[in-house]
Amino acid sequence: MLYVNLNGELLDRNNASIDIEDRGYQFGDGVYEVIRVYNGKLFTGNEHLNRLWSSAASIGITIPYTKQELQQQLIELVEKNRLMTGTIYLQFTRGISPRKHPFPGDDVTPTFVAYTKEVGRPTAKLENGVKAMVTEDIRWLRCDIKSLNLLGNLLANQKAAEAGCDEAVLHRDGIVTEGSHSNISIVKDGIIQTHPANNFILNGISRQVMLEICNREGIQVVEEPFSLEALAQADEIFLTGTTVEVMPVVELEAKMIAGGRPGTITQRLQTLFKAEIEKQCGAV
Ligand code: PDD
Repeated sequence: MLYVNLNGELLDRNNASIDIEDRGYQFGDGVYEVIRVYNGKLFTGNEHLNRLWSSAASIGITIPYTKQELQQQLIELVEKNRLMTGTIYLQFTRGISPRKHPFPGDDVTPTFVAYTKEVGRPTAKLENGVKAMVTEDIRWLRCDIKSLNLLGNLLANQKAAEAGCDEAVLHRDGIVTEGSHSNISIVKDGIIQTHPANNFILNGISRQVMLEICNREGIQVVEEPFSLEALAQADEIFLTGTTVEVMPVVELEAKMIAGGRPGTITQRLQTLFKAEIEKQCGAV
């Protein structure tokens, strides 16, 4: 049996239902997080909850728990589902009310849903790398909010899937922003470059872990926008994200990157990222 948390209550998944007038269902009016679980422990749980609070505040949703209360509920869900390696998906919508564009009154409370999924580490892809393609970033201008509205991401990701690629790299007028469901960095002459954390990208928690590792280890990194040309001429390309960790891109638009093998800096970051996971969650 798979348990879900619906508004603070642990229920059998088959007994959990959402009203058709939930604003998440009708408008995508809500925010979400995906948190990695290794060895039954949340990886960077606090950081994900901090981002959730800031996404919610950006669209005027008040989460009806303290961060500590929510974290406790997530831990209980993981324990109840005996999840060892996987993800927690959680979302808050603005709640249930007759379909009208303006926000409902304060009597309408947010709807909270969380559930878990078993997902192994993508070890073969981490070792061999993945393929990516490039497409226009047609999303809105508040990509820093982890909103339920993902159509721009989905359309791009579907193009990638149809091209036999794992990720779509997005660009606005020739400037690379991020992936459809990950952040992207390039390496040129030993220096890592990634888009600054502004409204054009989601400030990934894995991206932040990577930046902290670089600062600590003295690996040179700049947070500056880069062009499609710089992407094509990169020595190495890698993605960061909750489900992809530090993922080498070895083929871009059907052209080999770094000789078609994960580059040395990417591999070093993978090792250091894994060490960070193990520090928080034990051996993986
Ligand atoms: N996606 N950028 C986008 C657009 C994303 O959707 C994600 C994560 C990231 C990486 O963020 P983080 O390191 O915090 O996971 C960047 C999640 C996993 C998803 O939607 O499934």
